[in-house]
Amino acid sequence: MADKRHWVFIGAGGTPLIRADRLGEAIGVRKLYIKNDTSNPTYSFKDRPASVAISKAKEFGLGKVGCASTGNLASATAAHAAAGGLDCYVFMPDTVELPKVRQATLYGGKVVLVNGTYDDVNRLAYLLVETTSIGIVNVNLRPYYVEGSKTMMYEVVEQLGWRCPENIVVPMASGALLGALHKGLHELEEFGAITEAGTRFFGAQASGCSPICDAFREGSYEIKPVKNPQTLVKSLAIGTPGDGLYALNIVRSSGGYCQAVEDRRTVEAMELLCKTTGIFAEPGGAITVAAVKQMREEGVLDAGDEVVCCVTGAGFKVDEIVEQMTGTTHVVPPRLADILGVLEKQELYG
Ligand SMILES: Cc1ncc(COP(=O)(O)O)c(C=O)c1O
Repeated sequence: MADKRHWVFIGAGGTPLIRADRLGEAIGVRKLYIKNDTSNPTYSFKDRPASVAISKAKEFGLGKVGCASTGNLASATAAHAAAGGLDCYVFMPDTVELPKVRQATLYGGKVVLVNGTYDDVNRLAYLLVETTSIGIVNVNLRPYYVEGSKTMMYEVVEQLGWRCPENIVVPMASGALLGALHKGLHELEEFGAITEAGTRFFGAQASGCSPICDAFREGSYEIKPVKNPQTLVKSLAIGTPGDGLYALNIVRSSGGYCQAVEDRRTVEAMELLCKTTGIFAEPGGAITVAAVKQMREEGVLDAGDEVVCCVTGAGFKVDEIVEQMTGTTHVVPPRLADILGVLEKQELYG
């Protein structure tokens, strides 16, 4: 896109790659990195694809944009539409977390919740493309959308000193992010920026909605739809993943693995990530940490393997889960004796 007048940039990308030694020690990996995409403008990696897709929509002269979303794309699309001066329509399943609905609404998105699954929402989005003039970022603007996500791999390679990561672990919903990272890596090889694109790709899904991992485990090339996703990892709850086969082939051909993760393990990983790195992720982001822990336990990964974990969304977006995790907060009168009393009684000090 040459004409800068159409660019809608609110700061997507340019996120830190952090060496996470304390977390690595806890999960048995000596060289662990976190690509912290919670620090994007709307707090998920979805700002990357939304930025490119909305810029393209402006170039095409579209006045209305929108998306089908499991939660994070909603805010990313609405925020970029707001900055670009476009109307925005957001369609999500009605089971999505409330903070995600509120966030998208405040950016000016016209939010419609559908009493159904993401697959229902996605099907409606395809029909809307045929019947309205809305440019849906992950339907008719999808080719541009994917170009945005690949920048995450450009950054990882640069941050590692212009070499490819040995292993990268990616959350999968539609499978588009994993495919985009692979594309980005191979482009860098083509450009001559790196000499070898030998990264192994690993995908993570929730065990209550793991169509790509199921096909991997069964050695199959058929992705069987999950009709009724049952997981608290709502941002990854796509029963019919549009880019699933593409992602599956990349994982297989790169020598990687697909790990389905129980919700209990993902919630534990959210806490572990907080307590060892200071990064507050939502389940859809922390699932990669849970997947690495499990793959170490089951011998899929070795202690000496270098691993980059993509942590793609922030924990503020999942209030209800966090509330259950955190327990009581103490309120005391403004007296030292009372503070010391609480610390002693609750065994919080020492
Ligand atoms: C936090 C988070 N991580 C990862 C993904 C996976 O995205 P994809 O559909 O590209 O596989 C999503 C999808 O919504 C998400 O919200």
